[in-house]
Amino acid sequence: MDDKTLTIEFVRVTEHAAIAAARHIGRGDEKAADKAAVDSMRNSLDWIDIDATIVIGEGERDEAPMLYIGEKVGSGKGQKVDIAVDPLEGTTICAQGGPNSISVIAIADNNNFLHAPDTYMDKIAVGPKAKGVVDLNMSATENLHRIAEVLNRYVEDLTVVILNRDRHKNLIQEIRSAGARIKLIQDGDISGAIATTKENSGVDVLMGVGGAPEGVIAAVALRCVGGDMQGRLAFRNDKEKERAKKMGINDLNKIYSINELAAGDVIFAATGVTSGEYLPGVVFVPGGAKTMSVVMRSKTRTVRYIEAIHYFDYKAVV
Ligand code: FBP
Repeated sequence: MDDKTLTIEFVRVTEHAAIAAARHIGRGDEKAADKAAVDSMRNSLDWIDIDATIVIGEGERDEAPMLYIGEKVGSGKGQKVDIAVDPLEGTTICAQGGPNSISVIAIADNNNFLHAPDTYMDKIAVGPKAKGVVDLNMSATENLHRIAEVLNRYVEDLTVVILNRDRHKNLIQEIRSAGARIKLIQDGDISGAIATTKENSGVDVLMGVGGAPEGVIAAVALRCVGGDMQGRLAFRNDKEKERAKKMGINDLNKIYSINELAAGDVIFAATGVTSGEYLPGVVFVPGGAKTMSVVMRSKTRTVRYIEAIHYFDYKAVV
């Protein structure tokens, strides 16, 4: 990707999707919140001069009318890129008015994202200081000891962020027996993974099983700040395995490194929908709305936080 101005273009996309979703905060309607973000994102992507293909989106063509895998977006005029989107990460959070829902987009050169099927992924993610020491082949306990050593901390002083799900019962038990602390989150493991990269987040490592598409998007964010991550697809049934094989995945047990999840020069942009540790959410102000976004690029490691005020009388945000 040679055009660095593209980074700002993508922020506009997540800003608009976040405002659209924010109009549904706390209304209890997840589908409406998600649809608003998807419609907005689909619409604004075509303003950008790119020849882009959605590789991670809202699902297969027959189940998603917009932002489906394989859909062409952008004006079609510029460079060829692949796009991974999560227009509203944390639909339930948004519908319930909880913390940490965001609108996200990630961009890579052609064929540089793992074409992750819509299944689960076992993940481990850490910030830059623990890069190179985590390994999904090892137990959670072993990983915690390795992280503690490299961070010069006691295992007891580490905090693991995990999605609060029944499937994590054993993992939670093991982590507690190892002595580490746990932060259980209701949803939003992209934000959970990113939190490990921020020194004052109080979170050192993300562990456990979440969405595979979210795994690829999180890998993009971590690559932009020098963090580390591994992922292994976790299938629920044979149908998902078949689908993965059709998408070209032969080794169903493969552990993907962060560079295999997202290779080459990658860009990540996100805007807060509801306020969280990572980004403040959308605030409606007289005549418009205020947004806070982050955009970053792996090539330069530049991380930009962008606060914007959008006045609806001058530019409609739908
Ligand atoms: P949505 O925004 O699609 O609702 O995803 C939220 C999320 O919590 C992700 O962050 C996470 O990867 C996934 O759901 C976990 O899936 P499940 O809720 O099925 O355990």
